[in-house]
Amino acid sequence: MINHPSAWRLSVKARKITEHVDWMGAIDWDRRLFDALIPLPDGTSYNAYLVKGTDKTVLIDTVEPHKLNELMDQLADVPKLDYIISNHAEQDHSGSIPMVLEKYPNAIVLGSDKNKTMLADLIGLTESQYQVVADGETLSLGNLTLEFIYTPWVHWPETMSTYLREEKILFSCDFFGSHLATTDLYAHDEATIYEAAKRYYAEIMMPFRKPIEKNLKRLEPYAIEIIAPSHGPIYDHPEFIMGAYNDWVFAPPKNEVVLGFISMHESTKIMSEYLLSALVNRGVSVKYFNLETADIGKFTMAMVDAGTLVLGTPTVLGGPHPNAAYGALLAAALKPKIQNAAIIGSNGWGGGAAEKMEGLMPAFKDRFLKAVGSRGVPGAEDFKELDRLADEICQKHQDAGLK
Ligand SMILES: Cc1cc2nc3c(=O)[nH]c(=O)nc-3n(C[C@H](O)[C@H](O)[C@H](O)COP(=O)(O)O)c2cc1C
Ligand SMILES: [Fe+2]
Ligand SMILES: [Fe+2]
Repeated sequence: MINHPSAWRLSVKARKITEHVDWMGAIDWDRRLFDALIPLPDGTSYNAYLVKGTDKTVLIDTVEPHKLNELMDQLADVPKLDYIISNHAEQDHSGSIPMVLEKYPNAIVLGSDKNKTMLADLIGLTESQYQVVADGETLSLGNLTLEFIYTPWVHWPETMSTYLREEKILFSCDFFGSHLATTDLYAHDEATIYEAAKRYYAEIMMPFRKPIEKNLKRLEPYAIEIIAPSHGPIYDHPEFIMGAYNDWVFAPPKNEVVLGFISMHESTKIMSEYLLSALVNRGVSVKYFNLETADIGKFTMAMVDAGTLVLGTPTVLGGPHPNAAYGALLAAALKPKIQNAAIIGSNGWGGGAAEKMEGLMPAFKDRFLKAVGSRGVPGAEDFKELDRLADEICQKHQDAGLK
C-alpha cells in the first residue's frame, strides 16, 4: 500500500434501521456551500437506504458522486439489486446512479414521470433502464410493499416520496431534510436539528409553501413512524419535524422585522441602528444583519417568521450596494410570508438605490412602505422619517394581529 493520504479511504458501514432497512450513504463533514449558494456551517449528509424484501432488494436514492466510494463499499456485500428508486433527480441523490448501475446492470430505476425526463437529461439514463411509477402505485418486494407518493415541488417539480407500508417509514428525500454532518443516526438532539432543518427549509423549501401545504395534507392519512430524509438525521419521532413544518408553512408571521443593511461610511448603519431602536421601543422584535459579514443562512431563516423586511443600502454608482442587492434578490426569490418591505439608506448627491432595490423585488410590489433616504450622514429630519417608518410598521403589525 502506498503511504500517501490519497491511498486513504474512509469506510463507514451500513447502519441498521429496522430488520429490513439499512441506512447507507455518506457524511460530508467538510462541505461548506451547497448549490454554490447555500452556506453549510455544519456540513451535510447524503442518505441512501437499502430495503431488503424476501423477493426484491431496492436502493432508495444514492449519493453525491464525490462520495461514491463510501456507498460502493457499503454495497460490497449486496449481491443483487432489483431497483433503484430515484425520489429526486438532483445530482446530490441521482449523481451516483450510473455507477451503481454499472455494478448492477439489471437493476431498473424507478421514479415519477417528470423524473424520467430529468434523469435522461442529467445523467443520461436510457429507456430500458427506467420505469415510471405512478402516484399511488405500489411495488411488492415479497413481504414488503412500497408505495410511491408524488410530493411535487419539494423542491423540484419531479419530487416524490416512497412509503414502506409494513414498517411505516416515509423516505422523503429533500422534504424534511437538514444539512447537518453528524454521526447521530436519529434526530434526538432536537435543538441542533431544528436549527439545521429550519435553515434548510428557508433556503430550499420556502418558495414552495403552496405545494408544501398540499404535500403535508397529502401525507396526513399515512401512519408514519419514521421519516428517513436524504440529508441529516432520521426522525423516529416525526411529529417533531412535521410540527415544525406546519409552523413554518401555516402559522402567521410574527411581530418581527428582519433588518439587513450594508454601509460604507456608517451613514446607512446609523439609520439602521436608529430604526432598530425605534422598533424595539415600540415593542417590535428585530433580527439585525450587517450584510457585509452576515451568515446568509441566518438572514433567510429570519425571513421565515418576520412580518416586515427592511433593507438598508447606500447609493453606489447610481444603485444599491451589491450586497444589499443580493439580499433583495434572495428575499424576492424565497417568497417568505413577510407582509411589508421598506428600503432605507444614505446617498451622496443623487440617490437612486431605493427605486432599484424595489425593482429587484417584484414579489413585494404594492407592499412597499415609503422608503427613507438621507443625504450623507443622517440628521434630525431623517430620524423623524425613520420614526414615521417605525410607526407604520408597528401599526401594520397591529392591524394584522401579529404577535
Ligand atoms: C464607490 C462609491 C460610489 C458612490 N456612488 C454614488 C452614486 O452613484 N450616487 C450617489 O448619490 N452617491 C454615491 N456615493 C455616495 C454615497 O452614497 C454616500 O457617501 C453615502 O452617504 C454613503 O452611505 P454609507 O455611509 O452608508 O456608506 C458613492 C460612494 C462610493 C464610495
Ligand atoms: Fe434537491
Ligand atoms: Fe438534496
